[in-house]
Amino acid sequence: MVKASIALVTGSSSGIGFETSLALARKRIDTFATMRTPQKGDTIKKIAKEENLPITVLKMDVNNDDSVRKVVKEIVDKVNRIDILVNNAGYGLFGALEDLTTKEIRNQFETNYFGAVRAIKEVLPTMRKQRRGVIINVTSIAGVVGIPGECIYCSSKFALEGLSESISYELQPYGIKVILIEPGVINSNFIPNIKFPSLIDEKSGRLRNNTSFSHYSETINAFLSHYYPLMKNAPSPTLVSKKILESVKIALSSPQCFFRYTVGEDSKSLATAKRDMSDFQLHDFITKRMLG
Ligand SMILES: NC(=O)c1ccc[n+]([C@@H]2O[C@H](COP(=O)([O-])OP(=O)(O)OC[C@H]3O[C@@H](n4cnc5c(N)ncnc54)[C@H](OP(=O)(O)O)[C@@H]3O)[C@@H](O)[C@H]2O)c1
Repeated sequence: MVKASIALVTGSSSGIGFETSLALARKRIDTFATMRTPQKGDTIKKIAKEENLPITVLKMDVNNDDSVRKVVKEIVDKVNRIDILVNNAGYGLFGALEDLTTKEIRNQFETNYFGAVRAIKEVLPTMRKQRRGVIINVTSIAGVVGIPGECIYCSSKFALEGLSESISYELQPYGIKVILIEPGVINSNFIPNIKFPSLIDEKSGRLRNNTSFSHYSETINAFLSHYYPLMKNAPSPTLVSKKILESVKIALSSPQCFFRYTVGEDSKSLATAKRDMSDFQLHDFITKRMLG
């Protein structure tokens, strides 16, 4: 694609991160596939060996400042540059706001928002000196449209979208491009990894009063009855990795590039609805579509 390109991908143990690391390496981009549990890296290492791909697996927990700093330093010490950062690590926290603790909410932001912030801040000095770099932030259509039952997941992704839009101006003079990837439902480990409000109060160790039932269970259950079946026909993470590769290719080879990529039909239709409908129409459309 481009000579001497170096990529760092977060959350490469499964799903979109796994496929993106492979896709970049198959284009002969030296790829640092990072994950918080390196034992989960056996499959990607095996594929890399079989296909002779330039992949290095490194341990990196995006929740931890030192972990992110150490990995970026290790890469820069070794290869002296970083051209592509893919901020992919993330998970879904679902449930109604009143049912979630501030700790659960903070944890969601720690990974989905601050995880990306940490990685961006660490790679910037290198990209700025190079006067070249591409930062891909994997957000979601839930970072564009407020989805019922996903209030905190949505807000973490909206926050990352806002950051990305704003920093694109300060980074442009240094040749650093920022790109948003906004998938709809994708068949990865995302659904099995979704977290819900916990029933146990961490301080007392007892069942929380309001979570043996929820005042919002009707809405949440209606949404989940719409959401879970979508997984049956959901596209594979390779649909996203192909889009990431396409976006990187355009960003590295032309002065102008696209800022935002929706991935999947569901994402496209919701993004179009958000763009073309009034707030009232959109609310009505989402209520009918997702809450039945
Ligand atoms: N699948 C969807 O429907 C969908 C739709 C829109 C956007 N997305 C976004 O796409 C991204 C990738 O998700 P996916 O669908 O590929 O789900 P996935 O298969 O569950 O992959 C998530 C990855 O993030 C990693 N991760 C979580 N917390 C981490 C941490 N603190 N430090 C480092 N890595 C961490 C996971 O590692 P472990 O294996 O250690 O847990 C895993 O590698 C996420 O940001 C998600 O929000 C997904």
